[in-house]
Amino acid sequence: MDFSIKAFDAKNTIATSKTGCLVVGIFEDKTLSVAAQALDKKGELTAAVKSGDISGKAGTTLLLRGLAGAAAERVLLVGLGKEGAVSGKDFTSAIQSVARGFASLGAADGIIALPLDGITAHDTAWAVQTATLTLRESLYRSDSLKSKKDAPAAGVKKCAFALAAADVTAAKNALAQAIALANGVELTKDLGNLPANICTPTYLANTAKQLAKDYKLGVEILDTKQLQALKMGSFLSVTAGSDEPPKFIVLKHMGGKAKEAPTVLVGKGITFDTGGISLKPGAAMDEMKYDMCGAASVLGTMRAIAEMKLKLNVIGVIAACENMPSGRATKPGDIVTSMSGQTIEILNTDAEGRLVLCDALTYVERFKPAAVVDIATLTGACVVSLGSHNTGMFTRHDAAHDGLAEELLAAGKHTGDTAWRMPIEEAYNEQLKSNFADMANIGAPGGGSIVAACFLERYTRQYTWAHLDIAGTAWKGGGAKGATGRPVPLLTTFLLNRVK
Ligand code: BES
Ligand code: MN
Ligand code: ZN
Repeated sequence: MDFSIKAFDAKNTIATSKTGCLVVGIFEDKTLSVAAQALDKKGELTAAVKSGDISGKAGTTLLLRGLAGAAAERVLLVGLGKEGAVSGKDFTSAIQSVARGFASLGAADGIIALPLDGITAHDTAWAVQTATLTLRESLYRSDSLKSKKDAPAAGVKKCAFALAAADVTAAKNALAQAIALANGVELTKDLGNLPANICTPTYLANTAKQLAKDYKLGVEILDTKQLQALKMGSFLSVTAGSDEPPKFIVLKHMGGKAKEAPTVLVGKGITFDTGGISLKPGAAMDEMKYDMCGAASVLGTMRAIAEMKLKLNVIGVIAACENMPSGRATKPGDIVTSMSGQTIEILNTDAEGRLVLCDALTYVERFKPAAVVDIATLTGACVVSLGSHNTGMFTRHDAAHDGLAEELLAAGKHTGDTAWRMPIEEAYNEQLKSNFADMANIGAPGGGSIVAACFLERYTRQYTWAHLDIAGTAWKGGGAKGATGRPVPLLTTFLLNRVK
């Protein structure tokens, strides 16, 4: 969809705008939004409302054609909920209805003339971003591998947001950022949805190289030999059973001052997780192609901020490999030495995410980072505790010490890509005791997502760090199977807010 911003004046331009579909609002108390009033000179909208065909509750719609009071071919009246108190949630559901309407109409273009500046606790920029992301979301398809593509979406291809002249400049900036964010989200979804026979570690590395080319980013891909030289014994133990070569990807967007410490994103990139010798059960195992969604969110976020030309130094790091059983695979009980020198007894080869991440977390010490955030589909236990609504967020650092927790939570809230803080405490560390090595890679049962975070924490003591467990939020299973693109909105907003 092609988006633009249009300056308008409620009294004149709205009524005379020639467009396939003009979207205006109505509230629960049956009052019309300012733009809707401008079309009601002949009382046509008032009559339609009186007829009882639309309640004005958020998301309700009524399509009217050939109004004498409007030059538009169609007017889509959409419910916004409470007059004077339109919540972010109500606005989002109104836009979801607009997206459904747009998709099924004969119109090729539309104008959204809703009160974008009247949403409780949000500004016009937020409304433009939310509408853009919601419309792009509704158009997303993953059919690149179908020989017969799904029928191309009919309907509105060009969408303008109508705004008062004074808001136009701010809205144009917000729109450009929203489009960059939507592009990042879609890259993350595309990578997640690709099957593991196509989206291999090499494919992720090539995607990073392409991004580097397109946006002039720095890129470095380390291969097995280089990982051996770095003594990444923990990462290498995970890839041992696979015929696909592992890739360690470093992507740099240095948009800030030369001396400014970078913010580092570290993604888990298991392109397929069979569990290894601790083989997973067969049911729904195909979904373990999504075990690289942390990596995909790093690439999507790097794409979004590069397109925004964000004035911040950001480094994306990805540890990518497969977790496979074979005669060369790591066995339960094997002990490996991580890059940090700490030894690990691998009691379960299916707890592999932490094994690739711990070496990546040690590697990034060299960047003297301002902060490190790792993103991983790390534990089924996180899905049990938080379901699919919230990403699990773990950090030592909160308001009492440099505020990373608050930054991440706020960024999630702003975009509806929410996270929930979980504890990391010494008490859980007990569960990782090993009789033979510095630690085991799994703990006694209970609090599995917290124990996993505690494992990672042991490799992050040199810097400010947070861990995002996206096992429940990165993709949907069942009939609506597909990657969600989360937490790219959270991460991108977090980085945007870090620009001084
Ligand atoms: N990739 C999985 C986590 C996962 C499982 C995410 C199901 C989403 C849905 C991870 O590598 C894993 O297998 N974790 C184990 C850890 C356990 C062996 C301690 C798990 O969660 O079962
Ligand atoms: Mn696993
Ligand atoms: Zn995994």
